[in-house]
Amino acid sequence: MALPEAFLDELRARTPLGALVGRRVRLTRAGRELKGLCPFHNEKTPSFHVVEDKGFFHCFGCGAHGDAIGFVMRCENLGFMEAVERLANEAGMTVPRASPEAAAAAERAAGLSAIAEAASAAFVRRLHLPEGRPALDYLRKRGLTEETIRLFGLGWSGEGRGAIAADLRGQGVTVEQLVAVGLMKQEDDRPPVDLFFNRVMFPIRDRRGRVIGFGGRTLGDGQPKYLNGPETALFSKRRTLYGLDLARANARAGAELVVVEGYMDVIALHQAGFGGAVAPLGTALTTDHLAELWRIAPAPVICFDGDAAGARAALRTAEVALPAIGPGRTLGLATLPPGEDPDTLVLRRGADAFRAVLDGRRGLADALFDAIVAPAAAPEERAAQRRRLDELAERIQDRDLRDEYRRHFRDRWFRHRPAGRAAPARPSRPVQRPALAADRSRMLRERNLLALLLTHPMLLPRFEDALAAERFASPHCEQVRTALIGLDPEGAVDHLRNSGLAEALEAVLGRGLTDIPPTTLPDATPEEAAIAIERAFAGLHPERLEQEVAEARAALAADFCEANLRRVEALDRMCAELRADYAEDAAP
Ligand code: UTP
Ligand code: MN
Repeated sequence: MALPEAFLDELRARTPLGALVGRRVRLTRAGRELKGLCPFHNEKTPSFHVVEDKGFFHCFGCGAHGDAIGFVMRCENLGFMEAVERLANEAGMTVPRASPEAAAAAERAAGLSAIAEAASAAFVRRLHLPEGRPALDYLRKRGLTEETIRLFGLGWSGEGRGAIAADLRGQGVTVEQLVAVGLMKQEDDRPPVDLFFNRVMFPIRDRRGRVIGFGGRTLGDGQPKYLNGPETALFSKRRTLYGLDLARANARAGAELVVVEGYMDVIALHQAGFGGAVAPLGTALTTDHLAELWRIAPAPVICFDGDAAGARAALRTAEVALPAIGPGRTLGLATLPPGEDPDTLVLRRGADAFRAVLDGRRGLADALFDAIVAPAAAPEERAAQRRRLDELAERIQDRDLRDEYRRHFRDRWFRHRPAGRAAPARPSRPVQRPALAADRSRMLRERNLLALLLTHPMLLPRFEDALAAERFASPHCEQVRTALIGLDPEGAVDHLRNSGLAEALEAVLGRGLTDIPPTTLPDATPEEAAIAIERAFAGLHPERLEQEVAEARAALAADFCEANLRRVEALDRMCAELRADYAEDAAP
């Protein structure tokens, strides 16, 4: 809902920023500004400024910046509307509803919410009546303490049908309303019936802790084991994470945000000290879930089963996440020991065992790489794996991160080549070059090669593999080389310049007066440029060229055909040119 600007202005005007910030940060006056230690990053000298008359804060250390609303959002982990409501409350203002319809919907939701709360309380009451004894015993047998049972508001549905309607009738709650909160269902023209009976009840809460729906578990092995209530005006499965209300508060106090699979996993983890545990409700993680998680933590950890199905689920989740990841928005992936879920793990082996699972998490990029790249695959499979990695990186919308992923994948790919095709860690030095001139000429070669690529960026994809297999001796060249791998050809140079490589670019392209200008062939056609680049690569590895010449000669000896002859001639020509180059380099 968009709020009127006038309202927001009024709200900001009525919220003195210095006082608001001052509740959290010790501020001292420095001229017209207030100064203190930034609450958003660790620092020892104050770089956090509050400009009261302009109504904003800025941290010169971490770049945090915003107004009163932004400050509350960041400090309290709140959404925009929540922060507005909090501040409006304090300022004695009422947040306007956008329209009569919206106001009506909000009122209706508030009504439903009250009914869901009342139902939850009724289930809790039943758990502690004699009829709830088997359910209470069941929960205790699963290791839950009274405190945990209370914290999660666990309850008992009652044995047969009709219990909840009877419990709430006295409060004027109708059967239609129970259908609307997802506790009863109506099929065709038949009278509505209870959805939950003979079940332990798990109230599902929204991020602010309001009950919005229910799940129920059988006490024994009955099917279905868990029943999740239907989607209602209050409850959207796509958005809701079980335990998020508690996890959000705990995360503020430093708990790690962890996504697990089920109700009992969340509850057992909270009890074992992992207060940041949440779970989706019988669905896979959605982008809405991820958005919720990222409002709280930049890299929540997703826990998967240690079997093949778990690995597939992890890959699917990673794929869902890719389009939305960015700086400060990623995932960690952790794998459980086979045959355990977090609940059984902490019960049987204690909190340390789950700590170890968390500590073993991998970053998204590495987890993806490991899931796709099987070692020692056949060439056809390897080609398919590479394509798959490219496609995955391609999904990332954030351009910088997409480049980083491409580079990361390429880099690992070339470090993990199967035996026999291993790229040398360092290029072997061409044998026939005099040692002293070697370094200078080597760097010149590296520079020329990069300058050619930078002048003809459209050829980058074509030479990407060759580039990735090199290691350059000159630090500046090496910097540019790694940056070029996986880069979008379009605007490549500008992009490099803007990403902190301006100095390295200067060194490569050579702008100094005394500098030998590198070869760039600005007017060459793409084909001419490609030939020059190929030659530049060959120039880095004369030893390879010699090998090629030997092979071509052998092929010609075995089969004196025109193609083989051409090949030998072409290679000979290239060798002659290179020898001339080296002779030039070696000259003073
Ligand atoms: P699991 O079958 O892994 O159960 O389902 P669990 O969490 O280990 O449960 P316990 O330990 O036996 O009590 C994981 C999640 O999948 C959903 C529920 O959200 C459950 O928490 N689920 C499972 C259902 O919705 N329906 C089912 O019948 C089973
Ligand atoms: Mn379980």
